[in-house]
Amino acid sequence: MSASATPTFPPHLLDFQDWSRPQIESLLETARMMQEVLARPVKKVPALTGFTVATVFFEPSTRTRISFELAARRMSADVVSFSGAMSSTTKGETYRDTLRTLEQLGIDAYIIRADAAGVCHQAYRWLGKPVLNAGDGWRAHPTQALLDAFTLLQSLGSLEGRKIAIVGDILHSRVARSNAELLPLLGAAVVACGPATLLPASLPGARLTTDLREALEDADAVMVLRLQKERMDKGLLPSLPEYIAAYQVTQARLGWAKPQAPLLHPGPMNRDVELEGILAEAPQSLVERQVANGQAVRMAVLYHLLVGRKRSEG
Ligand code: CP
Repeated sequence: MSASATPTFPPHLLDFQDWSRPQIESLLETARMMQEVLARPVKKVPALTGFTVATVFFEPSTRTRISFELAARRMSADVVSFSGAMSSTTKGETYRDTLRTLEQLGIDAYIIRADAAGVCHQAYRWLGKPVLNAGDGWRAHPTQALLDAFTLLQSLGSLEGRKIAIVGDILHSRVARSNAELLPLLGAAVVACGPATLLPASLPGARLTTDLREALEDADAVMVLRLQKERMDKGLLPSLPEYIAAYQVTQARLGWAKPQAPLLHPGPMNRDVELEGILAEAPQSLVERQVANGQAVRMAVLYHLLVGRKRSEG
């Protein structure tokens, strides 16, 4: 794998504040190479031999955690897996003491999911090792946005001038925040839509609207988000049936977007709440492709932060 034209990468992936378009494009190009690895009969390369990677999840996850762990193993890293619910944090140990404990065991990179914004930034300060944000509170979920961009690029070819509609609980969504940061870097215009109580006062990188028809009309792609009840105060919605009536993405409403506009959902889905259940299997649904692409994208992120970055530093 050649790194000759690789730009220098930040020593972490916390959000996209320190990332440029050439860095993102280079990373997505590496993800395309990783897809080729994953298409081989033996899906394994030695790139991370000798590295130990820890997945540290203080919140539940299915796809992010498994695809990160598989990504690291596909590149021959050793992987340790930490789950907050099964750990000594339940006995009162702090995030810092937990991470410092792992540090004594020779971890080279930390993949962290936490319920609070800023934990990944703090972890980088505490540890001084590569930290990959696997979702921190409401704030950021950068590898989800990268796999969304990768999937959109496969489908649309280019994001230049494309209108991407994001519909649902924008207020509590780290996926919406990361996509609003990333997609405009690649030339897209993001429109985020939900009821007024589920929209933030502002969302850098996106235009906000409460009008679903306006958001979907002429959209090149539609991304649907679930209601994050675990982060939601009571009283934000009059009732679930009223939310569904006004904001569910249905087959009929998807007709407002461009013909065959790709449909994305980061998962987990609540079928027949934020989207009409059968749409998940519709021809334009990329939901399963997003999951599959997550592995290649996370291989690329691990490669650049642990190996490619050192090579480009010389
Ligand atoms: N999209 C996403 O983060 O899913 P998980 O919570 O299953 O990791």
